[in-house]
Amino acid sequence: SAENIRKIQHDNWFKGVMISNALTQEHLEGFETFAVRDDDVFVASYPKTGNTWVRQIVSLLYCDADPEQDIPTYARFPFFESYDLETQGPVYKTIETAPSPRLIMTHLPYDLMPKNVREGKGKVVYVTRNPHDTAVSFFHFSQANIALHTWDTFDEFLSNFLDGRVTYGDFYRNVLGFWKHKDDAKILFLKYEDMQKDLYKVVVNIADFLGKKFPEESFQRIVHHCHFSTMKDNPRVNYEPLARIGILDFSKSKFMRKGIVGDWKNYFSTQQKETADQLYRKKTLGTDLQFDFEP
Ligand code: A3P
Repeated sequence: SAENIRKIQHDNWFKGVMISNALTQEHLEGFETFAVRDDDVFVASYPKTGNTWVRQIVSLLYCDADPEQDIPTYARFPFFESYDLETQGPVYKTIETAPSPRLIMTHLPYDLMPKNVREGKGKVVYVTRNPHDTAVSFFHFSQANIALHTWDTFDEFLSNFLDGRVTYGDFYRNVLGFWKHKDDAKILFLKYEDMQKDLYKVVVNIADFLGKKFPEESFQRIVHHCHFSTMKDNPRVNYEPLARIGILDFSKSKFMRKGIVGDWKNYFSTQQKETADQLYRKKTLGTDLQFDFEP
């Protein structure tokens, strides 16, 4: 229940990353030794960069591209580092015995992923998004999600976000860790903005990576079911069930909020943009990572 969730939240710091749940240090240390299988698929990302969107694509690829066979995203994709209210332990323990193929969601940075993943076992679909839109989305999600710290103003949130003092820590640590491994055979690196530009192309790309073959019409069907307007009305992915039990407060912000590129312009002052741009230039210096900030 919402009351239970509220009670069990703690701000755990683990190797420089804040993980908002009730896991003990011993549980957190267990990430490293989780036994990964070859057919595991992780959908990984920093929060609010399009994880649910990618999960919906992968989910449909794993149920014969048939939306009727789909099940709610949080049931299809256990959240690796979260707390299982039923077992009162980590979700990664619960899925140790789950049947293959396991689809798993995570927000962990690359260096905290299970050692097996870093050794090339299992597959990882990683998605990222320009940091300005990520911040705006994260701010709204923090208002709606009872498990997250609520910020009084966007300004307060943004300065903490830029300093990495939010749940899951520094955006750039997360992105750059995976960026370094973007050419690894078992990692597919995606950008939210590319999904906006050509969803069909990204769906085909993900299918190739996961070795899933379908006729053209199945790909068209997947694309249709992954459009923002379709997902917004689909209770398997729009988190309405969590709103009904009070974990998300949709009066503050819907999970499927706007789904656009460039919403940051409605929130950033000139000064905030200058500060965030400076950090972006500094963090990406010497890497060839670039983001689109415009639609
Ligand atoms: P906004 O808050 O900017 O609308 P995550 O799933 O990683 O938490 O990311 C959530 C963000 O992805 C939200 O952004 C949400 O609206 C957006 N999103 C989810 N599904 C989408 C879709 N099909 N098309 C575009 N954006 C989508």
